Amino acid sequence: MRKEGNEFLIGDVPVKTLAAKYGTPLYVYDEQKIRANYRKAKSAFEKYYPDFRFFYAVKACNNPAIASILKQEGAGIDAASVNEILLAKKIGLGGKDVMFSGNFLSDDDIKQGLESGVIFNLDDISLLPRVLKFGEPEIMSFRVNPGYGRSNVGEFVTNAGPNAKFGLHPDQTMEAYRLAKAAGIKRFGAHMMPGSCITDPEYFSFITKLLMDIIGKVGRELKIDFEFIDLGGGLGIPYKPEEDGLDIEAAARLVAETFKSKVSEFGLKPPRLMMEPARFFVGNAAWIIGKVHSIKNSYKKIVGTDVGMNTLARPAMYGSYHHIYVNGKEDDKRETLGLCGQLCENTDFWVKERELPSTIAEGDLIIIENAGAYGYAMSYQYNGRLRPAEALVNGKDHYLIRGRENFEDMVRHTAVPGHLAI
Ligand SMILES: Cc1ncc(COP(=O)(O)O)c(C=O)c1O
Repeated sequence: MRKEGNEFLIGDVPVKTLAAKYGTPLYVYDEQKIRANYRKAKSAFEKYYPDFRFFYAVKACNNPAIASILKQEGAGIDAASVNEILLAKKIGLGGKDVMFSGNFLSDDDIKQGLESGVIFNLDDISLLPRVLKFGEPEIMSFRVNPGYGRSNVGEFVTNAGPNAKFGLHPDQTMEAYRLAKAAGIKRFGAHMMPGSCITDPEYFSFITKLLMDIIGKVGRELKIDFEFIDLGGGLGIPYKPEEDGLDIEAAARLVAETFKSKVSEFGLKPPRLMMEPARFFVGNAAWIIGKVHSIKNSYKKIVGTDVGMNTLARPAMYGSYHHIYVNGKEDDKRETLGLCGQLCENTDFWVKERELPSTIAEGDLIIIENAGAYGYAMSYQYNGRLRPAEALVNGKDHYLIRGRENFEDMVRHTAVPGHLAI
C-alpha cells in the first residue's frame, strides 16, 4: 500500500475506488506483494539448500485465488482438514503436493485422506493403527513436539512444548517410526510446527537442531532415509510500526547450516527440506477497508466502524495489534480515541486507545494493515453481521474473489420443523 497526497492506494488502485465498487468491510489482497514475499523467502532458502520446498498453510487464508497465486509460484499446500485437501484439489494440487496435517482425526478424515493420496502427517502414535485399519499411506511422517515452542502471537498460539495439544513426545518418536516401518510403510518424512510469528532468525536454527537430534537418531537406528523434513511455519512479520521484520536471508542460512551439519552427524541421506508458512506470504499483503458509521462521546470518544471482531478476530482473540490508517486524514493532528465494530459484545471494542486523526468523521474510510493471515479465514457471522467480501488487486486491475454474504447465507442449512412454523 502507498500514499499519494492524502489518499491510500493498494497496488495502483485508490482504496476509495475499491470501497465504492465492492462496499465495506472489504478484504483486499495485493497479488504482486504475495508473489514478492514468496520469492524472497524461496530464493533465500534455495540459495543455502537447493532441495527445498514450501507448502502454503492454506488455513491462514483459504481463498482459492490466493492459494492459486502460491501454487503458480511453486508451493504445495499444507492442509489441516479434508476440506482443505479438497480446496487444494480445486486449484489443481493433490498427491505429493499436499501435506495433510490434521489433528484428532475422525475415521472419515482418515479414509478420505488416504483416498486422496496426499502425504499423511500423523499427529500421534495412536493414529497409526487407526490409519492402517483403512490402508497404507504411500508416504507419511509424524509430527514431533520437540518440547519447545515460541509465539509472538500470544501464549495460546504456542504450538509445541508440554502445554501444546500437538505432536508426538520425543520419547515416542522412535517407537512410532519403528511400528510404521514394521507395518510395511516404506517412504517417510518428519515434521514439527513449534512456533508462530517469530522474527528472530536464531529461533529457526534452534528448532532445526531440536528436531534433527530426535529424527537423526531414528534415521540412524531404523535405517530410514527420510525423504523430507518439514520445519513447519512460523516465519514472522512485524505488526507494530516500530517492530523489525525477520531477516529471512539469515534465517535460511542458519537453518541450512544446522540442517546440513545434523544430516552429516547422523549419516542421513540428505532429505528435502520443507517449510509450511503462511503468515510470511500473505500476512502483510492484505488490508481491510472499513467505514466509520458514527462517533460517540460518552465516557470515552469511540469511533464506530463496520469492522468488528467478527470481521477480524485476532485483536479480540489474542489481543493482537493491527495498525490503522484513516484515508485522507493521516497528516492531521492526532488524539487518543477508541475504535470498535457493531457487535453486542464489549470485546468488539477492539481498540481501546489509539492515536488517530482527531478529524476522523462519519463516512471516512479506515484501512487495517496486516490482515492477510488468519483474517478472513477466522471471520464469522454474529449478530447478523455477515462475512465481508474479498478483492484482489494486481497493479491497476482488481477483481472480486469472494462475494459478501447475505441473508440467504445466514439461514442456509437451517430448518424450522413443521410444528414451529405456525
Ligand atoms: C501445522 C501448521 N503448519 C503451518 C502453519 C502456518 O504458520 P504461520 O502462518 O505462522 O507460518 C500453521 C499455523 O498455525 C500450522 O498449524
